[in-house]
Parts: sequence; C-alpha cells; structure tokens
Amino acid sequence: MTQTILITGSASQLARCLALRAAPPPWRARYLARGELDIADASQVARVLDKAAPDCIINTAAHTAVDRAESEPVRAWRVNAEGVANLAGWCRRNEARLIHISTDFVFDGLSTVPYAPGAEEAPLGEYGASKLAGEREMYTLAPRRGAVLRASWLYSEFGDNFVKTMLRLMEARDEIAVVNDQIGCPTSAHTLAALIWRMAEGEPGQDLYHWNDGGAMSWFEFAREIRRQGLAAGLLRRETPIRAISSAQYPTTVARPAYSAMDRSEALAEYNMPATGWRDELNRVIRALARGPRLAASQGVNADAT
Ligand SMILES: NC(=O)c1ccc[n+]([C@@H]2O[C@H](COP(=O)([O-])OP(=O)(O)OC[C@H]3O[C@@H](n4cnc5c(N)ncnc54)[C@H](OP(=O)(O)O)[C@@H]3O)[C@@H](O)[C@H]2O)c1
Repeated sequence: MTQTILITGSASQLARCLALRAAPPPWRARYLARGELDIADASQVARVLDKAAPDCIINTAAHTAVDRAESEPVRAWRVNAEGVANLAGWCRRNEARLIHISTDFVFDGLSTVPYAPGAEEAPLGEYGASKLAGEREMYTLAPRRGAVLRASWLYSEFGDNFVKTMLRLMEARDEIAVVNDQIGCPTSAHTLAALIWRMAEGEPGQDLYHWNDGGAMSWFEFAREIRRQGLAAGLLRRETPIRAISSAQYPTTVARPAYSAMDRSEALAEYNMPATGWRDELNRVIRALARGPRLAASQGVNADAT
C-alpha cells in the first residue's frame, strides 16, 4: 500500500536533490514549500498535516543563515527548534515517522578527532544552539519514531553554497582569500539525499547519524580542489590565486568550529551506503554546474558553509 512521505522546505538544496530521485516503495513523495507549510506556524502545521496525513516527514526546512541567526535569534529558534517541535508533536500524535536534518555546528570544534554521534555537543552560536534544541525536541516528542542526520558543509548545484560562491568569486576577482584553519567535511546534498531515501526504506527507530563524503580538510584546501575541477570543466577561465588566511583575518559575527569533522562510519555500516569520496562527489556537482545556468543564478553565500 502506498504511503505518503512529506518533505518540508521544498526549495532547499537538499529537498531539490531528494526530488531528483524516485522515493523508494512504499512511499509517494509530496514536497511542500515554505508558502504551503511554514513549520514555525503551529496551527498551520496541524491543519496542513491533518489534511496531508503523511506516514513520514523529512524535515529539510531550516533557518540556515548562521550569522543572521545572531541578529535574529527569535526567528532562528522559531524555525529550528519550535518548528521541529511542531512537526514532532504531530508525528507523535499520529504515529508518523520524522527524519530530521541537523548540523556539525552543534559542536564547539575543540576536538582533534572526528566527532562520533554520541559526542558531547557545545554549540558556539544561535544557529547551532537552535539546531541542537530542535534535535532534542524531536527526541522528546517523537521517541522511537525519529531519526536525526547531521551533515556538514552541504553543497549542490542548487541554492547558495560554498562551491558556487568560490566559482563565482574566482571568476570575478583577481585573487581570493580563504580560511585555512577551519577543518571540516564537505557533503554533497546528493549523497545525503541517497542516505535519507535508504533510511526511509528501513524500519523506524530513534537514531542519530553523521554523514559526509569522507574527507576532512580546510576551506582553503576545498577551494583549491574546486578551482582545479572548475578549470577542468570549463567553468573557470583562469587560475585565480587563492590566499590562505586565518579565521582571525576573516571575522564573522559568530565563531565557526575550528574542527567539525564527523565520523560517518555508523551510517555507512547501518545503511550499507557506498563510501562516497569527496572529490568524486564534487566532480558530479561541478559537471552539473557546467551543464546548466545555475551558477549565474546564485546569490550570496550559504551561511552554514562559511
Ligand atoms: N547548508 C549547509 O552547509 C548545511 C550544513 C549542515 C546541515 N545543514 C542542514 O541541512 C538541512 C538542509 O539545508 P540546505 O542547505 O539544503 O537548506 P537551504 O538550501 O538553506 O534551504 C532551507 C529551506 O528552508 C526553508 N524554510 C525556512 N524557514 C522555513 C519555515 N519556517 N517553514 C518552512 N520552510 C522554511 C527555506 O525556504 P525559503 O526558500 O522560502 O527561504 C529554504 O527553502 C537544514 O536542516 C540545515 O540546517 C545544512
């Protein structure tokens, strides 16, 4: 019997990557944009979900602007914490599942080894704190019915993200400067989408997993590989110099974790996922960008990624 899986935040880069793949049986996917379902609006959540009657929800909706979350914490918490509580409460009352996406920003970055899912969280700012609160709301309100997937440095050919920003800046400027003392793991939204669909195929359970494409590096190192692949794909016309700088030379409203690599081994094993390689996954997105006009359409920087 077909069941409905509802995806929130349908304009997110993750939802757009989910939509490129067919939902596995028994699911029939239904995507709702913010205009159709504002997860922060409790009465709208109840009304829309009662009508749609999903058996599972994938929550990709989030307030992802890390620096803006400092100046508008109430908005960030309304979406990232209360919004998740709204969804989880409905799931509990209606025996539905919830797959929720969270972030490496729940960590303070003081570790020197990849964070395991059980590692202690200590967010540095409002974005990370609100996302962590969302995780906890989910566990409280939807016990044994929810899973949290934490990802880091998410990018794709859609939306705004570090890869697209780097390509655009490398075309526009004679030199760019990129931070070399923050270490993390790039994650293609496509491989995250593949893992989510695999999770949806399995049994519900309360779980927490980490996901990325298997390489830990600095933003500077990531930018150099983006340049190499961008040149090879014809997205860049020249080898724009990249200067390595420290976080102190690139002040942001809120500090980023200095080290946010996460250990994905449990997700690999539990869901029998292919051990994706970050260079190959970057290459898929670079090739998609080279095929289409999406680079030019992008504006600004994905704040979760920089
Ligand atoms: N981007 C990263 O580097 C990164 C890293 C780790 C984890 N994550 C997490 O991964 C998930 C997906 O990220 P992403 O980069 O794909 O997201 P994204 O492209 O930034 O899109 C977020 C989407 O959420 C929607 N949204 C915001 N508030 C909403 C609300 N109240 N109700 C419904 N929808 C709302 C936005 O709608 P509008 O289009 O109308 O603004 C937008 O389409 C998020 O949970 C994020 O926290 C992201």
